[in-house]
Amino acid sequence: MSEKIQAPRGTQDVLAEMAAGFHVVEDAARRLLEPAGYRRIETPTFEDTALFARGVGESTDVVQKEMYSFDDGGGRSITLRPEGTAPVCRAYLEHGMHKLPQPVKLWYLSSFFRYEKPQAGRYRQFWQVGVEAIGSDDPAVDAEVIVLLDRLLGDMGARELRLRISSLGTPETRAAYREELQAHLRANADRLSDEVRSRIDLNPLRAFDSDHEGTQEVMRSAPLLVDRLTAEDRAHFDAVLALLDAADVSYELDPTLVRGLDYYTRTVFEFASDALGAQSGVGGGGRYDGLMELIGGPPTPGVGWAAGVERILLASGGVPDPEAPVDLFVAYEEPRRADAFTIVTRSRNAGRAAQMELAGRSLKGQLKQATRTGARFVAVLREDGSVLQDTETGGEVAVEGGADGVVAAVNRNLGAGL
Ligand code: HAM
Repeated sequence: MSEKIQAPRGTQDVLAEMAAGFHVVEDAARRLLEPAGYRRIETPTFEDTALFARGVGESTDVVQKEMYSFDDGGGRSITLRPEGTAPVCRAYLEHGMHKLPQPVKLWYLSSFFRYEKPQAGRYRQFWQVGVEAIGSDDPAVDAEVIVLLDRLLGDMGARELRLRISSLGTPETRAAYREELQAHLRANADRLSDEVRSRIDLNPLRAFDSDHEGTQEVMRSAPLLVDRLTAEDRAHFDAVLALLDAADVSYELDPTLVRGLDYYTRTVFEFASDALGAQSGVGGGGRYDGLMELIGGPPTPGVGWAAGVERILLASGGVPDPEAPVDLFVAYEEPRRADAFTIVTRSRNAGRAAQMELAGRSLKGQLKQATRTGARFVAVLREDGSVLQDTETGGEVAVEGGADGVVAAVNRNLGAGL
């Protein structure tokens, strides 16, 4: 035997129980988002690498270390999507969605790929449910998407949730703030971790994320971006918070909230669950009013979020996996095989959940298998005649007329029982 091939590290097979969970999340998202005006979108699994390099940002971990990029054989650099916002914005531009009534509200549930160190709740292929509302800078849109995520996580029974929120202002405010922060970091360089020190130029904001003690001390006296917001940005942020208050969504203001993607402007937020371990982020997002220009479009505001489907399920302690009810199991002696097949096919065509013996079991084994499936009715086809059993009442009737007779008897009795 040759060596066994396993799934790549950091990936997982979605088996029945988890698939049921995915289904519940998808259903909950559809029921919540479609009536709120969000339409489904799915973009390709891979995109031009430049979309993420420019959209997500060259200095981010995602672009620097976590992308699955490769030459597609035709000299193009292709990347398996690490996130969904840049692709949805690309699609908005490509399909001229600015001509539609704004904002254009879209949702997706797709798989994404990041070359991260695998651990509980962190995978190299994972699933996100997300929304993007593009074409309006009204603070009500920020509040709407946050309220919807709060609802979705609530509907899914996610436990011990906390919402943290902040505002990053405009790129200009951020640039000025960045210089101020860099000056602060340089002035205290000897107390910083090596990693933070080496990234002062590239990504000084990440210093707020550090768990290094000396760095944390330095950051306690660091200037905060929220204190540097322009009056307009402050007013936008206050309006978002007022709407969240009105919607009874509780949040913590966290001026050190850092998101791993560069495109954010103004509002940023993250839902974390204390029920999870180190990877506590269940969902997050924010406004990205400059992203469209980065990828070659006209200035167009947008706001959205994505939540990890696996993490939603972990935070809600899994969902029950109700096995699909079986209406009819057909057991048979070998000469009646074709009849069994006909009965199952016709029953399925009539909308019944029907199964038949497929593994060559003895009649006794077949009846055991019927019990395992939990079938309501069991048809037993013997060479010398057929019977229909009702597993709920214990009733049994002889059925005349071959396959037709059995199908008719099931149809007659399914509602009432034998
Ligand atoms: P993100 O914070 O990078 O944002 O990812 C959103 C969520 O995806 C995380 O909160 C987490 O639940 C899940 N996630 C991320 N990486 C992994 C992983 N390796 N394994 C399992 N789950 C993971 C974004 O992706 C933005 N596009 C969100 C957004 C939409 N912002 C605006 N619009």
